[in-house]
Amino acid sequence: RGPDHSPLYELMNKANHFYNEQLRKAQDAPRAIQYLKQRGLDGQTCKRFGIGFAPPGWNNLQNHLSENQEKEDQLVTTGMLVEKEETKSRYDRFRDRIMFPIHDTRGRIIAFGGRVLGDAKPKYLNSPESPIFHKGRELYGLYEAKKHNRHLERILVVEGYMDVVALAQQGINNAVATLGTATTLDHMQRLFKTVSEIVFCFDGDDAGRRAAWRALESTLPYMEDGKQARFLFLPQGEDPDSMVRQEGSDAFLERIKSTALSLDTFLFKELSDGIDLNTMDGRSRLATDAQPHLHKIPDGLFKQMLMQRLSEITGLNTDTLETYLNKKNDPE
Ligand code: CTP
Ligand code: MN
Ligand code: MN
Ligand code: MN
Ligand code: MN
Repeated sequence: RGPDHSPLYELMNKANHFYNEQLRKAQDAPRAIQYLKQRGLDGQTCKRFGIGFAPPGWNNLQNHLSENQEKEDQLVTTGMLVEKEETKSRYDRFRDRIMFPIHDTRGRIIAFGGRVLGDAKPKYLNSPESPIFHKGRELYGLYEAKKHNRHLERILVVEGYMDVVALAQQGINNAVATLGTATTLDHMQRLFKTVSEIVFCFDGDDAGRRAAWRALESTLPYMEDGKQARFLFLPQGEDPDSMVRQEGSDAFLERIKSTALSLDTFLFKELSDGIDLNTMDGRSRLATDAQPHLHKIPDGLFKQMLMQRLSEITGLNTDTLETYLNKKNDPE
């Protein structure tokens, strides 16, 4: 049992309450509400995700929540206040931003993401790692999705806060986002504990395609029989937010159904990229490149089917492949 973090959770709750209130009361609230409206979000959706507003200014949250030195220190610990190294002076991390509270699966607020209302940089600011926030483990929207439906069967994994919220606005309530990081093994373990089917819908850009491959690599160790992972590739320049607003939820779900690639299709497509399978060295190269990936998959029928598929593509029989793959794995 670790240290008691309950004062930190309590402060995060108070901070969230403050940001929610500011979305109604701040002098600049109309500008924030206007921004949210322009992004297609209604009050109900904002409420469901606890979206708030950090007003402009350097000390709003600080003045509101620093009742004493101990509290202020805790605000620094959670990253809500930044401490200047030279002067030790402290100020609000989030200023003039739309605020997205990040919950853990127990519903406690552990961090925030904040978006500028315009084109200023950085577009998003996130809470730093803290005793209550471990980035590579958390998924934005998972608490909300579970709360909405206790018997989730499928989860969509997207890149951004706005993707999660925009999908929910259109009635697709099972999306979660990695928090500006790559999909990790921890993420996948957690997701496959919750559902048996995962659809990755990353942005239609180079970063999104790289993210998809990283996601595949994190998924392989959890592909036990009965688990399913698919990969949706959006048209260039689109993300789930822009796509679902453009075409609506029915078309978006149909897009998943008819165009998302199965894990095996995506795997072999990527591995074969740039390889001439009409040549012998091309086919052996594919077998070699596939080896470390197949090795990560738990033994079972799915793995056998992938071996079968590799056998069909390379013309090597599965026994040969298996002997070769196993030999390659033996430490010398
Ligand atoms: N991100 C971040 N810091 C940035 C840019 C992005 O942490 N400076 C993270 C955020 O979690 C963001 C996600 O990466 O939601 C995806 O980035 P991007 O596609 O650029 O942003 P969108 O979510 O599409 O943002 P928006 O639609 O609001 O412009
Ligand atoms: Mn901890
Ligand atoms: Mn992007
Ligand atoms: Mn995006
Ligand atoms: Mn976007």
